[in-house]
Amino acid sequence: MKGWMGKFRALTLFSILALILSGCGKENLSALIPKGYGAEKSLDLIILTAVIMLFVLVIVMLIYVTVLIRFRKKKGDKDFIPKQVEGNKTLEIIWTVIPIILLVIIAVPTVSATFDLADESAASESLNVEVTGNQYWWHFNYEGKEIQTSQDLYIPTGEKVYLNMKSSDVIHSFWVPAISGKMDVNPANENTMFIEAYEEGVYYGKCAELCGPSHALMDFKIIAVSPEEFDKWVEDMQNVDPKAVAEGETAKQGQELFQKNNCMGCHAIGSSPVQVGPNLTNFGDRTRVAGVMEHNKENLISWIMDPNSIKPGNKMAGKYPELSKEEASKIADYLLQLKPSSITAEDAGK
Ligand code: CUA
Repeated sequence: MKGWMGKFRALTLFSILALILSGCGKENLSALIPKGYGAEKSLDLIILTAVIMLFVLVIVMLIYVTVLIRFRKKKGDKDFIPKQVEGNKTLEIIWTVIPIILLVIIAVPTVSATFDLADESAASESLNVEVTGNQYWWHFNYEGKEIQTSQDLYIPTGEKVYLNMKSSDVIHSFWVPAISGKMDVNPANENTMFIEAYEEGVYYGKCAELCGPSHALMDFKIIAVSPEEFDKWVEDMQNVDPKAVAEGETAKQGQELFQKNNCMGCHAIGSSPVQVGPNLTNFGDRTRVAGVMEHNKENLISWIMDPNSIKPGNKMAGKYPELSKEEASKIADYLLQLKPSSITAEDAGK
């Protein structure tokens, strides 16, 4: 009876685990639903490896169960020592050769995919983006285009985009599961990879390397749009005038507060290379505040007033004079107006 209770408990535990883990396959955040070149290659390898491992498991279990049943001690059997087969050449060869064949079947496509994903021969004539990981946000510099942005990486569909990646502080890892595999970003050296999205859409990204108290909140997005829409986005971003005066009385006052409190010392608007904090050029077009909260004024005010309570350990905490809720609200009015582009995450996500 006790044994059955144990099995029942284990079964319940596994059922609950299966239920919880099934939530991991969120669309546009799942390596199992690939929407890009690298993710597709990875899934092919995952399936190949899983099938071979299952094959081995089934064969081993079949042999195991057959032997258990066939050679179990029956009533009336006398104790005896079975025939010893150690040093049996045929068996030794069989169980050495079969794993070698299976490993070769896994190794050939794996090595080929590794070289394929590291191929950068087309990098010089393609779109290159410099990616910088920071505690706890991502900066994107479109090389040769005078566009700097943060958190949302706009790319054209059906093209390889080459990323040149580093970190400004500790090791982070750039991972957009539906588009490609992971790549570490290090403070000491530059790593490179390419990404390619097949379809338009918003693909969620995560930092995949423990990098501090807000590691789990270091979210970002790849926003893939058609090549024509991407060109339009580039033009919009290049035409931004960082000094343009805000519209509306409160937003205008917000802009003055933004300047008076020297927020630009950390947050650039336009193509300035300042990147102490996220570039805010297209902040109004984003769909998240600080990468993790819904994009609305209320959340933006909470962020401006107390960023540390939302992303513990971020560099903004305590770096500027305390603001009243009224002042924070005016700054929020200004920031939400920063909408240079005709193409937004919402358009791409349609
Ligand atoms: Cu950056 Cu974890």
